[in-house]
Amino acid sequence: MKLLHLDSSILGENSVSRAVSAAIVESLTKADPALEVSYRDLAAEALPHLTLDVLGNPDGTPELAEFLASDVIVIGAGMYNFTIPSQLKAWFDRVLVAGKTFRYTAEGPEGLAGGKKVYVALSRGGYYGEGQPAAAVEHAESYLRAVLGFVGITDPIFVLAEGIAIGPEVREKALADALAQAAGLTVPA
Ligand SMILES: Cc1cc2nc3c(=O)[nH]c(=O)nc-3n(C[C@H](O)[C@H](O)[C@H](O)COP(=O)(O)O)c2cc1C
Repeated sequence: MKLLHLDSSILGENSVSRAVSAAIVESLTKADPALEVSYRDLAAEALPHLTLDVLGNPDGTPELAEFLASDVIVIGAGMYNFTIPSQLKAWFDRVLVAGKTFRYTAEGPEGLAGGKKVYVALSRGGYYGEGQPAAAVEHAESYLRAVLGFVGITDPIFVLAEGIAIGPEVREKALADALAQAAGLTVPA
């Protein structure tokens, strides 16, 4: 099985989502050493904004081919300005392709990429859970669930680290809790 590991944080070694996505990959590969891992750093090698040329290319993109060939995908993302990093959005712009990963039917849209297992390491400066005052402006987890669901991936596993900007102690605890959760993950048979 192939595992695609994506990171999108711009914060380098200070990134929480990078630490957690790496821990998820470590845990999954420990449980299944036969996993073939490929890695894309979407911040270090940023994809340009989507253009008409890219959209109209009948061959698709290397990013689409890599996504389609992957069985497991691990995504590292921080919340930036209430949503995902634009580098990760540029990647999704190449993966949501009509006729390849979704199609419209008389009954509505249908995802064509179900069956992949997706893990998301999502790090947020504040708190956006149900009942929190800022819950209504959470557009990172909600966006990711929407686009993944649109292509047929309806059961992504989120490992959240929240309150990262509150202070060093909250950050340490949130990171430790997320790393502990990541350590228990395996790819279901
Ligand atoms: C450019 C930028 C924008 C941010 N915007 C938000 C935000 O809208 N809401 C929030 O709760 N935290 C925000 N934060 C804090 C990040 O969500 C937090 O630092 C998180 O750990 C980022 O993930 P990373 O450490 O993997 O980069 C922002 C941080 C940066 C650098």
